[in-house]
Amino acid sequence: MTNSSLLDRAVSVLLLNDTGLFTKPGPHQYPHQWNWDSALIALGLSHFDLPRAQQEVRSLLSGQWQDGMIPSVVYHSTPSDYFPNPEFWQIENSPNAPGVPTTGITQPPLLATMVRRMHTRHSMEDFVREGYPAILRWHRWLHTDRNADDSALASIIHPWESGTDDSPRWLHLFEAIQPEALPEFQRGDTRYVAATERPNRTEYERFIYLIDVFRKLNYSPEQLLAYSPFVAQDVLFNAILSRADEDLRELAMGLGQPTDEIDGWLNQMRRNFNDRFWDERAGLYYDYDVRTGKSIPVNTAATFLPLFAGLPSKEQARRLVDEHLLNPGEYAPNEDVRHWVTTTAQTEPTWEARRYWRGPVWVIMNWFIIEGLKRYGYDDVAETIQQDTLRLIEAGGFREYYDPRDGSGCGSTDFSWSAALAIELSQ
Ligand code: GLC
Repeated sequence: MTNSSLLDRAVSVLLLNDTGLFTKPGPHQYPHQWNWDSALIALGLSHFDLPRAQQEVRSLLSGQWQDGMIPSVVYHSTPSDYFPNPEFWQIENSPNAPGVPTTGITQPPLLATMVRRMHTRHSMEDFVREGYPAILRWHRWLHTDRNADDSALASIIHPWESGTDDSPRWLHLFEAIQPEALPEFQRGDTRYVAATERPNRTEYERFIYLIDVFRKLNYSPEQLLAYSPFVAQDVLFNAILSRADEDLRELAMGLGQPTDEIDGWLNQMRRNFNDRFWDERAGLYYDYDVRTGKSIPVNTAATFLPLFAGLPSKEQARRLVDEHLLNPGEYAPNEDVRHWVTTTAQTEPTWEARRYWRGPVWVIMNWFIIEGLKRYGYDDVAETIQQDTLRLIEAGGFREYYDPRDGSGCGSTDFSWSAALAIELSQ
């Protein structure tokens, strides 16, 4: 362990947000249990309280739907002023809804990767045996109920499912969506955080419109895939899924469980990922609009996620790193931008230094990129980004995201995954 006061402070943030049952991503802004946040939080907790880390996972799994989906948010019974609240989702109209209140959509499947990492370090076979069937069912649901074209690539039906809500990757899809009528709602996300750091109104209205469409379809997976105005194959989501399949396979092997089904997903993903997403001319991975059958040529840090899953060839990795990550016009620090790694390339016209997923540095993205770079032997670049990330947290506190120009913090304060990853990155 390195910087002990940073570690002590990180632990305090996780304890501050601990409700006993689950850990809030942020004390005011995010008062319930979020899916991929919880996976990272469990990893953070496992460094100092393994039983509590396991509880975090159990609580998340308690929100699993009958068909296998693990939702983006499990509300539990915690009262809050958060919007959208459980009533807004109306999930009770679905035969698949669980006994606890949740959203009706999912989030990037990071859980298997985190459980495997915890298991490698702490050897927790009983816990893996307990959780494995639920995680397997979720992956199966993603590869089948979200399979738009027999490619094994999962589709997302809402930008919130990408975890990168207002990323400019989704703007072009949104242009085609003209909400006929919006349900009544009042935003809650600008209560604790400046509106200039949150999604624009146009995007937010479409987020809500989509939920209204989904609830009218009673969350039937077939209907959602058939009628959602937003259906995308997301580079980031599928890279995380493929990496999670690898990790799930390792868990299965350890338990003596068959791996044929998982092998099938991995093989299909390896066959289809590069064909679908790689743009040879740009040297970038682009997301795909399933409705129009077109690639979405927007340059964001999602392009580096395939490194995390070992999907690019050596040459593709070299192009991602040399032509893009290390290019000061796009991602590398320069006169204006002092910190690694902006979530959107600075060359994008939609780039904004402080607005949510439009440009700021997010610790989660840096962590994925660091892991991916190490996987491909770019240890020096990984180390540079790791040190910069720790410096950002040290100076700006455990914030949700950071202005890449001066490192000042944005969004939620006392943000749990920034704390969990500070612990992880300091090992
Ligand atoms: C925001 C982020 C999402 C995260 C959630 C809770 O919605 O976009 O990725 O899971 O906040 O932290």
